[in-house]
Parts: sequence; structure tokens; C-alpha cells
Amino acid sequence: MLEKTLLLLSLLLVAWQGVTQLGLSGPLEDKTFSVPEGRLRVQYLYQFTFEPPIVSLKLSGEKDGIIEMSPKEGIIYLNGSLDWETRKVHKLQLEGLNANGDRVKGPYSITINVEDINDNPPTFDQPKYYGIVRQSSRPGKPFMQVTASDRDDPTTPHAQLRYSILQHFPNPYQEMLFQIDNITGAISTSLAGFQYLDPLKENNFLLIVSVNDMAGQSINSFVSNVDVNITVMENLWKSPPSVKIRENATEPHPICIPTCRVQWNDPGAKYEIMSKEKPPINLPFVVYPNGSICMTQPLDREEKDLYSFFVAAKDEEGDLLARPVTVEVVVEDINDNPPVCDKVLTKIEVQENEVVGNYIGTLRASDRDQKDTLNSRLKYRIVDQNPKAPHDNMFRIETDTGVIHLFSSALNKQSVSNYSLKVEVTDSAFQTLCNVQINVIDINDQIPIFEKSDYGSLTLPEDLPVGTVILAIQATDADEPFTGSSEIVYSITKGDPNNTFSITTIRKTNRGYVKINNVLDFETAPVYNLEISATNPEPLVAGIQYNSSSVAYLRIYVTDVDEAPVFIKNTFIIDKLENVTVGSLVTEATAIDPEGDQIRYKLRNNNRNWLRIDPLSGSVFTAAPLDRETEHTYVVQIVATEQTKASQSSTAQLILNLKDVNDNPPVLVKDSLFFCHPLQGSETAKIDVSDPDERSFIHAFTYTLMGGNTIQDNWDVAKPDGRHAYISPKHKDLEAKEYNIPIKINDKGRPPMEGTVNLKVNLCACTDQKICFHEVDRSDSWPTVGMAVGILVGVLLIIGVILGFVFLHLKRKKQYEMKASPANAVKPSELKTLT
Ligand SMILES: *[C@@H]1O[C@H](CO)[C@@H](O)[C@H](O)[C@H]1NC(C)=O
Ligand SMILES: *[C@@H]1O[C@H](CO)[C@@H](O)[C@H](O)[C@H]1NC(C)=O
Ligand SMILES: *[C@@H]1O[C@H](CO)[C@@H](O)[C@H](O)[C@H]1NC(C)=O
Ligand SMILES: *[C@@H]1O[C@H](CO)[C@@H](O)[C@H](O)[C@H]1NC(C)=O
Ligand SMILES: *[C@@H]1O[C@H](CO)[C@@H](O)[C@H](O)[C@H]1NC(C)=O
Ligand SMILES: *[C@@H]1O[C@H](CO)[C@@H](O)[C@H](O)[C@H]1NC(C)=O
Ligand SMILES: *[C@@H]1O[C@H](CO)[C@@H](O)[C@H](O)[C@H]1NC(C)=O
Ligand SMILES: *[C@@H]1O[C@H](CO)[C@@H](O)[C@H](O)[C@H]1NC(C)=O
Repeated sequence: MLEKTLLLLSLLLVAWQGVTQLGLSGPLEDKTFSVPEGRLRVQYLYQFTFEPPIVSLKLSGEKDGIIEMSPKEGIIYLNGSLDWETRKVHKLQLEGLNANGDRVKGPYSITINVEDINDNPPTFDQPKYYGIVRQSSRPGKPFMQVTASDRDDPTTPHAQLRYSILQHFPNPYQEMLFQIDNITGAISTSLAGFQYLDPLKENNFLLIVSVNDMAGQSINSFVSNVDVNITVMENLWKSPPSVKIRENATEPHPICIPTCRVQWNDPGAKYEIMSKEKPPINLPFVVYPNGSICMTQPLDREEKDLYSFFVAAKDEEGDLLARPVTVEVVVEDINDNPPVCDKVLTKIEVQENEVVGNYIGTLRASDRDQKDTLNSRLKYRIVDQNPKAPHDNMFRIETDTGVIHLFSSALNKQSVSNYSLKVEVTDSAFQTLCNVQINVIDINDQIPIFEKSDYGSLTLPEDLPVGTVILAIQATDADEPFTGSSEIVYSITKGDPNNTFSITTIRKTNRGYVKINNVLDFETAPVYNLEISATNPEPLVAGIQYNSSSVAYLRIYVTDVDEAPVFIKNTFIIDKLENVTVGSLVTEATAIDPEGDQIRYKLRNNNRNWLRIDPLSGSVFTAAPLDRETEHTYVVQIVATEQTKASQSSTAQLILNLKDVNDNPPVLVKDSLFFCHPLQGSETAKIDVSDPDERSFIHAFTYTLMGGNTIQDNWDVAKPDGRHAYISPKHKDLEAKEYNIPIKINDKGRPPMEGTVNLKVNLCACTDQKICFHEVDRSDSWPTVGMAVGILVGVLLIIGVILGFVFLHLKRKKQYEMKASPANAVKPSELKTLT
């Protein structure tokens, strides 16, 4: 009895709270409720009010033993938890009954929509997954997939799944070799995997794949893990070995090259030949669907001796399955080219008195077959001499080189002025006849004589362009015209060590033109004293020598042109620590004026005024504290101006690279976080900090709780790992409010930088989505102590009143039960639901 009373009491207390707090009561009508699943305690839903003749209400339908009605009070309540996964909507009928138990109102339709809560962890479709990946598989191209499902409402985050790779065994490299699409669960190789996977090194990997619900965004999401076993197999998609093919094959084409095959890792790929050249060239190859590479026509080494092209593998849509492989075909030479004379007629001159055995010239021939092989080895032989006067074999040719020597002393220009030779040139298979004409010329017994031996002096500005002709010179030779005995070759024999000048000659007139060959520079060479000689290509006869009449002189004066100052370097690249003291020397940006004029320096684009320059010396100093975190490369221009009327100037660039010094304490990335109140225990949250200094200083940050015992007794900071650590409450009975937690973070750099940050931790009531429920006006929602006591007293008073009411009611009911007819008695079932 006492038990029953207490239960009823609790129900009514709930009811009362509901009614008074939310005003959830009203007349009989169709009604729809939304109820979150999974509430274990008895839960008040609504109170229907009614008037006589209705004395009780009856609820029927999909009650599932949970949805109950206290018939006399008209309270609809839940005894137990609804389950969204079992039934999403409960349809019920409500009737108003009179004292006889007959329906006088209704039925009304009562609908209870069950709202999902995240009460189902995701589950993988398989207890374990197996996958195969080929070496060099394209990064990001899935080779397998894992799938998980979640029974929670798919329209809520409760069933939004995110996949991730938790661990990876073995993990021989810094980066993971595999990656997973966090939405689809498709697994592919990462860039590192593409580079490093090798079945010969490691052919088996175990991935631990996690799936989180709540879109992976909440620390309160459910997680399931599964093992994924991956076998790495050899990549079949690779370049075939380079092949050698003989040119000029005579068999019918196409001819397939036996060792030249490609194969994609799976069947069904389409192969395609692609030219490497741009624009593409026509390749005499095809690739068949079976991967065989075949020639479509005979190859010609002399046209192209190496083919290097791509073969691509494509899928049905024509997308590349992987990087194309390179196929290389080397074309081998056969002797299929005859020797060729370089000139139709090779002309050679020989002086009448030439000494027997002297070299007089060379017949040049060539062969297009491969160099330095027997196919292009040439042999020379004189087969005919015309005229054969005064006798045959006047000349001799060297078999392997084509060099021709005089072989007789019987030359006589009067009787035979020229000879025609036929020379047979052979390689191992072909012969060719070449023609040589040997002209007998006068003896070279005259030297070139200059028209004058002194060409005086020339004055040239130093900026005269290269190629300018500055002088014409002339010498004459009395030997037979248009032969090597009278042809004149001019050369500068003294006074021009750096080839600043050159001379070109017109064959017909033997006139020479002196030109500027390299830039003149007044500052390095203001004067040239040139000596020019004139000589013949044919040797002079014995007893005759060149003398001073074959030499001429020329003086050149170079005049100065005002030029801009020149910096010792175009770009000054300087590294400095960011903490250098103001006034430190950065660099000496010296410039020199070619004319030796005074120079003044200034800086341009010194936007932060970090630097200053000494206008006289060009030394650059720091002018303000520098800060790498503001700008790590500071670029300015240095302008040097000469102090003349022309005031010409030049510019150099100064690139100042600031080297990092640990001069910033760590700061919080986000200075607030929350836990849901009441605490369940074992909550923990990540604190992320950042440090503007370079990564090299970030070793192991240390985290120390500050703020005395009140903070240290309640909170714990643990598992520091570089730029993050975890904060957790030490016990469950912390009040719901915002805590300010000072944490000292030290970056352990050199020098260490330490800062105290203030982390705001909000302990708050949470919504079903596990996010903080924010009251509109916070100052009102946290009652003062006085208010709290007042509320407590009020509640106690009301409980007292209700207790009184309930006892009274029970007492009256008992009396009533005794007096009333059985029809009016409370049905046992009804009683049961209330107790
Ligand atoms: C899922 O992957 C996308 C793209 O790779 C990324 O932008 C997103 O942040 C990832 N989401 C989670 C929860 O990791
Ligand atoms: C192939 O060889 C034959 C003689 O062997 C020759 O006549 C022909 O010109 C050659 N073809 C090419 C393309 O070199
Ligand atoms: C591939 O196919 C081509 C043409 O169908 C055929 O000539 C060749 O022999 C085949 N290669 C192999 C290795 O089967
Ligand atoms: C070569 O000699 C012949 C007669 O010996 C003569 O007729 C011809 O003009 C000469 N040719 C040359 C280019 O000197
Ligand atoms: C020749 O070049 C050298 C080295 O560049 C230089 O020292 C010398 O002055 C030059 N001489 C003349 C005459 O230009
Ligand atoms: C140079 O030699 C030629 C003859 O070969 C002669 O006429 C000339 O006078 C000589 N010149 C000098 C300067 O000796
Ligand atoms: C600059 O920082 C370095 C490294 O932290 C330190 O050794 C040096 O003494 C500092 N220099 C100045 C001028 O503060
Ligand atoms: C709730 O259900 C239990 C078991 O079904 C029952 O024992 C109890 O009396 C019920 N309570 C109420 C208030 O209906």
C-alpha cells in the first residue's frame, strides 16, 4: 500500500511539475506528441481535462506496454522508454467514458512521434575486411571499401558516419601509406603509398579503421573499429624492357615484338599509344587489346634511331588508369646506305714546283649508316686519272682517310693545267665514284704588300656597337689571280689579346674590313696598338719570306662615355636573426662608378622602416626591432646615384631573410570549451594551442594548471603532446557554470617562452545533440543563494500540500470504493498501471 502510494505520489509530482511548469493540459481533442526515445523513468506527457458525464478516459492502440493513461485524472504518461528503432510513431485512440463505462466522447486520435537519440553505435558490415592493392596504384583511386551502418535516424547526425584510419601496421614511414574517404569508406593509397609501397619490402598491412557517428564531430559519438588486411601485389603495369629492332625488315607487317608487351593489373583495360613529341608524330607502332606492341612498317635507322613513346591504359570512360608507361625501341643499323661524296667535284690546287710527297688536299665522303661501325667504314682508291700525262699515278690517295699527296715531280702548268681523278669510295657493300679536279697553279713567289704600313689612329666612343666596321684595309699580291698563291688572309698579330677586333675579307678584291668584335671599355682598355699581317694560304716558295711590307699598323683610342654606377652584386641576400639589436650592420652594398664619381646611396620600398643606409658608404643597418612573425623576408631596393650633372643611378636588391628566434609564448587556438552537465565521469576535451614561432622550436610543450587548489582539485590537464593536451574534470560533482582555468604553457624552446592562458570551461546543460543549451539571459538563470533557498522552501511547501491532498484523496477513495457499486470500482488493470 505504501509502495503504491509513493508511486502515485511520484507520478503526480511529475504531473504537477509538468502541468505547472509547462501548462500541458487541455480538453479532449486529437493530439500529437513528440517524445525522445530512451527515457527510463516515468514521464508525464499531458493531462486531458473533462467534465461530467465523463468520469474516466480510456486509451487504446499501440501502447506497447509503455504508454499509459490514468483514467480518472486523464494523465497520459510513459512508463518506460520508447524505442525509435522499434516503432517511430505510436497511434492511439482516446475515449471519454461515463460512469457506466460507455463511450460518450471520442475516439480522438493520439499520435506519439518518437524522436531518435543517438543510442546505436555504428556497425561494420563485415567482422574483418581483406583487400588487394597493386604497387604504384594511383593515389586516391579506391581499391576497396568498408561500409558501416547505424540504426539511428538517418535524418539526424546520429546516423551520419565518418570513417578514419586509426592505426596502420607496420608504419615504416612518417606518413600513412593508405587513406580513407571519410564519407564513403573507400580506401586508396596515399601519395606516400604510391611512392613507397613495394611487395618485396612489405606485402601485408593491417589497418584499424574507425567509424564515428555524429559526423565525427562530437567527442560523444559512438565509435566502432574493424581490421582491414591489405595485401600488396606486384605492379604489372610497367615499362617493357627496351628492345632492339633491325631496320628495313622485309617480312610482311605488322610484326609483333615478342618481348614488348604491356599489361594492366586487371582485365578489361584499353591500351593506347601516345607520342611523347609535341606536336605528336606518327609512330610506326600499334598496341593490340592483348597488350602486344607491333610494328606497322619497316623502320629506318637513318631517319630515326630511337623511338620512345607512351602506352596508356584507360578505363571504359576513357580515363587514365595510371601514369602511362614508356616503351623504348632502339633501331639497329644494317648497311643499307652507299657512300656519298660530300661535293660533286672536289677542287684541289697544287703549285707547279710542289715537292713530291707533299699533302695537297683531301677528298671527303660520308655514309649515312651508323658511325663507327663497319657499315660506315669507307675505303678510297683512285681508279682513273685524266690526262695520263706525263704519266699515270701522278697522285696517291690514302685508303682509309681520302688524303691526297703529290706522287710525281713532273708537274708542268704549260702542258697540263689540270687533272681529273675518279676515286672509288666503298663501304662493305656499296661503291660510289667521286670526282676530283687538281689545278696546277703558279708558284707562290710574291708576298702580299700593304697599300700603306700605317693606318694612323682612330678615336672611338666606348659604346660603339659590336659589328661596326671601323676601317677598310688593302694589300695586293702579284701571283696568279684567284689561286691560293694570291689570296690574302689578314690577321691581327699584336695588340688585341681579347679579340676585341676582327677582320673579314672579300675574296674577289682581297679587301679587308676591321670590325668591332667585343664591347669596348674605356675603363679597362683605352688604347689599342694593332699590328695586322697579310699572308697567303699557299706556302711561299723556298727563299721567299714575308717582310715588313706585309704588315700594317693601326692605333685606336677609346673615349669615355658616362656610365651609371655598378653594384658589386645585383642582389644582396642576407640572413639575420630576428632579434638583432637595432643598429646592427646588415650588409655593405658598395657600388663603384666607372668614371670614379662620388656616389650617394638611399633605400627604396623600406616600407616598415626596418633598415637605414649610410648615404656615403652604402652600409645598411637595422633601424628598428625586426619581427619574423610580421614579415619573414624583407625586400628593399638600394639606389646608388653618381654625384654629377647626369646623376645616373643603378639599383640593387637587398633580400633580408629573418631567422626565427623563439620570442612568442604559446596561445590558445580556441579559448573556450564545454562539458555536458551533469558529468558522467571520464569526460575529456582537447586543448589546442598555437605558437607563431617556427616549428623547429616546438619540442614538447608543458602544461601546468595554475589558480591554486580550487582549480587543481577539480581539474586535470594530461597527455600533453606538442601543441595539444587534454583537460578533464577530476570528479563528477562540479557545479554547472563557467570556470576560468588558468594554464601555464611553456614551449620549451631556446629560450623557453612561457605564457599563462585563460581557458573558459563551461559546464552546461546539453541538448540531445550534445551541445550546450544556451539560455537567453544567463544572469537570470543562475539563481543567487537567497533565491535558491526561497525556491527550496517553496517546493517543500508545495510537496507538503500535495502530500496532504494525496492522503485525503486516498482516504476518500477507499471510503468511496467501499460504498460504490462494482461497476464504478477502479478496474484492476487501471490500478496496476498506477502502482
Ligand atoms: C572529411 O574529408 C574532407 C575532405 O577530405 C574534409 O574536408 C573533412 O574535414 C573531413 N571530415 C572529417 C570529419 O574528418
Ligand atoms: C632497305 O634496304 C634496301 C637494300 O637492302 C635498300 O635498297 C632500301 O633503300 C632500304 N630501305 C631503307 C628505307 O633504308
Ligand atoms: C596479340 O594480338 C595480336 C593481334 O590479334 C596477335 O597478332 C598477337 O600474336 C597476340 N599476342 C599474343 C602474345 O598473344
Ligand atoms: C683543264 O684543262 C683543259 C685542257 O687541258 C682545258 O681545256 C680546261 O679549260 C682546263 N680547265 C680548267 C678549269 O682550268
Ligand atoms: C683582356 O681581358 C683581361 C681579363 O678580362 C683584362 O684584364 C685585360 O685588361 C683585357 N685587356 C684588354 C686590352 O682589353
Ligand atoms: C719585301 O720583299 C719584296 C720582294 O719580295 C720587296 O720588293 C720589298 O722591298 C721588301 N720590303 C722591305 C721593306 O724590305
Ligand atoms: C637572439 O636569440 C638567440 C637565440 O635565442 C640568442 O642566443 C641571442 O643571444 C639573442 N640575441 C640578442 C641580441 O638578444
Ligand atoms: C510501470 O511498469 C511496471 C512494470 O511493467 C509496473 O510494475 C509499475 O506499476 C508501472 N508503474 C506505473 C506508475 O504505471
